[in-house]
Amino acid sequence: MRERGEILGLKRKDLLTLQELGAEEILHILDTAASFKEVVQRPIKKVPALRGKTVVNLFFEPSTRTRTSFELAAKRLSADVVNFTAGSSSLVKGESLLDTVRNIEAMNVHTIIMRHSCSGAVHLVARHCRVGVVNAGDGTHAHPTQGLLDLFTIREVKKSFAGLTVTLVGDITHSRVARSNIHGLLALGAKVRVVGPATLIPKSIAQLGVEIHYRLEEAIAGADVINILRIQLERQDGQYFPSAREYAHLYGVNARRLKLAKPDVLIMHPGPMNRGIEISPRVADGPNSVILNQVTNGVAVRMAVLYLLSGGESDENPD
Ligand code: CP
Repeated sequence: MRERGEILGLKRKDLLTLQELGAEEILHILDTAASFKEVVQRPIKKVPALRGKTVVNLFFEPSTRTRTSFELAAKRLSADVVNFTAGSSSLVKGESLLDTVRNIEAMNVHTIIMRHSCSGAVHLVARHCRVGVVNAGDGTHAHPTQGLLDLFTIREVKKSFAGLTVTLVGDITHSRVARSNIHGLLALGAKVRVVGPATLIPKSIAQLGVEIHYRLEEAIAGADVINILRIQLERQDGQYFPSAREYAHLYGVNARRLKLAKPDVLIMHPGPMNRGIEISPRVADGPNSVILNQVTNGVAVRMAVLYLLSGGESDENPD
């Protein structure tokens, strides 16, 4: 049993997937994030938890939300932050990924936050590094901090996961967000439905314990949360649906379809949104939308992850 005010760190070097965490560790991260959310609402948003430590943002793929919020999170914990840009690094001269990371590690950094287009690249780096590595999205595999901030946003409104029905809509095949959400939601006791064109739903996903649907109306009927995934044209190596217009017609979440869900349904989207394709502007900006709350919560959740991976030790914790 933890004493009040005592925050124990995660007993792991890296955070690579939500699959590797149990419900207790996930809830511990969410509780710590709630304390940090209170900190970042103060006029002075900083705590000295990671003073003297250096965090490197190593992004090999574009990002707005994840990269910016990790930078803000690290700075609000008083860490120094270095943003590595692949396009202007020696990678373009042919240096390998592992040599690049080993050189960065040799500069005595404390944590590496990494995004890469290849599933598993972050795991490879974590295996060869002594410092902690946080997965900021690897290929189609996992995006654990997005999963955590989605869980945090749901819990903030719905209070608990037991009895909740969460529908994930769209491109399940290419979505690392879907996989992280599924592992986290099932661990915490929610029921998960996935829906999309058959070409974008791997049959094997049923083995995780989710319900598969192919009709949007059926999948969102009575839902408590609808998490709408981006159609990821950059990861699609073929034609998975006839056209964006056809996709919007069959799977676009619009105000008319929203009426099938519970009146207090939460509308979520990890961003960036394709407005008018997977989500209508009226739904994206409507009263059920918590899309910008997800972004706000991302900073507190990433503060919690960086803090807890560092051992959760400091002279001043967030309580
Ligand atoms: N949700 C998400 O990963 O957004 P970015 O690609 O902008 O980081």
